[in-house]
Amino acid sequence: MCGIVGYVGSEQAAPVLLEGLSRLEYRGYDSAGVAVYSQREGTLSVHKAKGRLQVLSDLLQGGAAVEGTVGIGHTRWATHGAPSDVNSHPQVSQGGKIAVVHNGIIENYAELKAFLVDKGVTFVSETDTEVVAQLIEYFYDGDLLAAVGRVLHRIKGAYALGILCADTPDQLIAVRKDSPLILGYGKGCSFMASDVTAILKHTREVGYMEDGEIAVLTREGIQCYNHLMQPIQKEISHVDWEIDAAEKGGYEHFMFKEIMEQPEALRRCVFPRIREGEVWFEDFGLSEEYIRSIQKIYIVACGSSYHVGMVGKYNLERLTRIPVEVALASEFRYMDPIVNDRTLVVVISQSGETLDTMAALREARKLGGRILSIVNVVGSSIARESDEVLYTWAGPEIAVATTKAYSTQMALIDLLGLYFARILGTVEEQEYRSALDEMLLLPAKMEEVLADKDDIQYFASQYFNHDSVFFIGRNLDYALGLEGSLKLKEISYIHSEAYASGELKHGTISLIEDGTLVVALGTYGRLFEKAMSNVVEVKSRGADVLALTTKSHEKEMRETANAVITIPDTHDLLLPSLGVVPLQLFAYYVALMRGCDIDKPRNLAKSVTVE
Ligand code: AGP
Repeated sequence: MCGIVGYVGSEQAAPVLLEGLSRLEYRGYDSAGVAVYSQREGTLSVHKAKGRLQVLSDLLQGGAAVEGTVGIGHTRWATHGAPSDVNSHPQVSQGGKIAVVHNGIIENYAELKAFLVDKGVTFVSETDTEVVAQLIEYFYDGDLLAAVGRVLHRIKGAYALGILCADTPDQLIAVRKDSPLILGYGKGCSFMASDVTAILKHTREVGYMEDGEIAVLTREGIQCYNHLMQPIQKEISHVDWEIDAAEKGGYEHFMFKEIMEQPEALRRCVFPRIREGEVWFEDFGLSEEYIRSIQKIYIVACGSSYHVGMVGKYNLERLTRIPVEVALASEFRYMDPIVNDRTLVVVISQSGETLDTMAALREARKLGGRILSIVNVVGSSIARESDEVLYTWAGPEIAVATTKAYSTQMALIDLLGLYFARILGTVEEQEYRSALDEMLLLPAKMEEVLADKDDIQYFASQYFNHDSVFFIGRNLDYALGLEGSLKLKEISYIHSEAYASGELKHGTISLIEDGTLVVALGTYGRLFEKAMSNVVEVKSRGADVLALTTKSHEKEMRETANAVITIPDTHDLLLPSLGVVPLQLFAYYVALMRGCDIDKPRNLAKSVTVE
């Protein structure tokens, strides 16, 4: 959950590093720092500051105050050691020769620190990262690469490392294990970064580092090695999306931009996958024979991706009649899950770097499961460790609160269900056709919902002062409520929970009192009457009910709820894909009215790469 950037070339490094870090702040933003080799002094010039990147940038006059053409930079989301100047990266060895930036966690840092202290090494920070810098210097005998190799045999955990040594100022070393790190190939310069957006201004030619790989970056190019220190040839990919796709594009917040981008993201995600009336996946390695052999589907994810899995359970089981189990990745790892070679494990992740999800993937593979991942970030760790990958093609998602990645993940899992059902013969032709027709209409219907955003803004103005909100629904509406509740709490800091409506009466309804805000989700037609009875149930106890339903149920809902939001009618499978949009907007406007930091909510980061 930190951002790393490195540069070696002929331009002044500090401005390049600061500009790159500005595109990585969504990965962590409690402190930042740079280390640049000063030609004039012949030493490392290290500058670090607690707080947002702007604090450091102001300190360094945008980088003009720092001389040197090779350096590393870091923006931090604290894991070991509170946010402070001294705990900021780069961490430097006691002899001042080695500077290190790190994304991840060194799990055995305590024992290594004790070993080094015992050898007389003095530590200044509380970080695990400082152990790496000190250990490199401890092993350093003039050959930096060899010293790094020795260190890598001793450290355990997840790490993307950028390393700069005062004795070898014409090179940087990059190391990757479990945390993302990409390489940038420029003319007379080389880059490393936690993701592509940090270097896209300078080069579109990138290489995705694999676990265990080491790279030596110089002005002449990049030499990569495997974990055995054998030279390897890296595949270089060309990045074809525009950097403004990772900019706000005139919107006030990335989150709002990404909410509004959803129709376009869905077109990119869905349309190429419906050809001549059939679902079609490019380079898809699950054979018909294998699909027929699947005895169980496990969906494993975290947060909003888990909520996609909850919708996926209802839809996949309905379509394929294959048992589907959904598990939180952090739980899956420790629950002795029942997985074998007849289990398809669907791993869902926007970032493709969530450590809990990655670890669950590895656990599932160990048990013999076949891994299919649904991921947004191309070339991400989870994508590269899966047997099959379906990319959402939602484009870079910067806001911590996911929106377009969520809705494209959901579309993909619905397409997957239809694809399987077609092969298994478990879906009627007419049902299949109408589902695909509605899938193709989804972006336009979503645009209709977005066109009503002022209504949502009005409801938000009525309710933004509540300090507790319930989202209730049944079946698909319950799964939808989970996501609506998370969106609201993670950016507005209002306590909220999603509840299966039928379960309310078994205890939780005791919390409903005069004025309690209940968002009642009643889009799923088959259970609409049940949804209505739950609205009556909470209203009779004083609740203020904001209901969400389809146009065809609007009239009936208006007779009971205090306020009603509607979405166009669509195929049952797609109700959550449409229903989530008003809930995203509601959360956004409430957070806006409460003056919250929408794109960078407190305590959160875009990619959770720690346990
Ligand atoms: C969603 O708005 C949150 N930012 C969070 O729950 C997120 O969905 C979760 O951390 C999983 O991230 P991933 O999809 O990148 O794995």
